[in-house]
Amino acid sequence: MDPASPEPQTGSLADVGRDRAVASVPAKSVIETRDLNVFYGDFHAVHDVDLAFGQNEITALIGPSGCGKSTVLRCLNRMNDLVANARVTGEVSYHGQNIYGPGVDPIAVRTHIGMVFQKPNPFPKSIYDNIAYGPRVTGMKVESMDDLVEEALRGAALWDEVKDKLKQSAYGLSGGQQQRLCIARTIATKPDLILMDEPCSALDPIATSRIEDLMMELRQTFTIIVVTHNMQQAARVSDRTAFFTARPDETTGNRTGLLVEFDDTNRIFTNPADKRTEDYISGRFG
Ligand SMILES: Nc1ncnc2c1ncn2[C@@H]1O[C@H](COP(=O)(O)OP(=O)(O)OP(=O)(O)O)[C@@H](O)[C@H]1O
Ligand SMILES: [Mg+2]
Repeated sequence: MDPASPEPQTGSLADVGRDRAVASVPAKSVIETRDLNVFYGDFHAVHDVDLAFGQNEITALIGPSGCGKSTVLRCLNRMNDLVANARVTGEVSYHGQNIYGPGVDPIAVRTHIGMVFQKPNPFPKSIYDNIAYGPRVTGMKVESMDDLVEEALRGAALWDEVKDKLKQSAYGLSGGQQQRLCIARTIATKPDLILMDEPCSALDPIATSRIEDLMMELRQTFTIIVVTHNMQQAARVSDRTAFFTARPDETTGNRTGLLVEFDDTNRIFTNPADKRTEDYISGRFG
């Protein structure tokens, strides 16, 4: 900062990104953000996020509605490119390479970094073709598509339920099965990082518990970043947790999202460093 410039006033956007507690840094990270800012038109949605996501870990992103969790998640595989007025500044470095650097193909990025959405969104195709679609369009070298489909469905704990109806429409599956199908579709292209945006919010407790078990199994092979509003879920499945909040700009009143605290999940839920985190996880705010 220019030393001649006046001190930022408390509550101004100039300092929102600096009053945060980042106590936990993974030994080996798959993806890192530095000075990540996101704008939708003139609206500053996310301010200065610095995070590192550990390999073979599950990291939970939590915080009140509108604090920018989905926005940050979408930056990690360039999904915000598909939002017409979105602008991203800063760096997202994936295995050391800035995915916003010149010449990087966002479609290639998305084959390495898969995404599972809030609402299960199978393609209007058979169960088999939902899985085979990604490997086909990305031109993956596949010895046996049948084997790959089976492996992905087994990996998503769905094989036993669908093995006799692979040619039937994916729409015939229950919501929980459809979400596991979407996870199978994501892992079929062999990404190493999976982003999940509230993957259980449309599911009942039993289907939710199956997905949580699955996430913990997938962590052996993949790195997972999950947005959730479910505090118990974050506490149950994640290794580390990032808590975000939104702070209104004094002049415009626009609420800009910022990272408040990042630490081991256990610590976030038992002894957070920041009062805002404590208020949120104890249900006093948000
Ligand atoms: N396409 C868009 N155009 C304009 N503003 C947007 C767009 N998408 C998100 N925003 C705004 O950016 C801010 C962050 O939104 P985001 O969806 O990332 O929040 P979130 O933390 O995921 O919220 P929720 O918990 O409700 O899903 C919000 O103020 C939202 O209104
Ligand atoms: Mg969201």
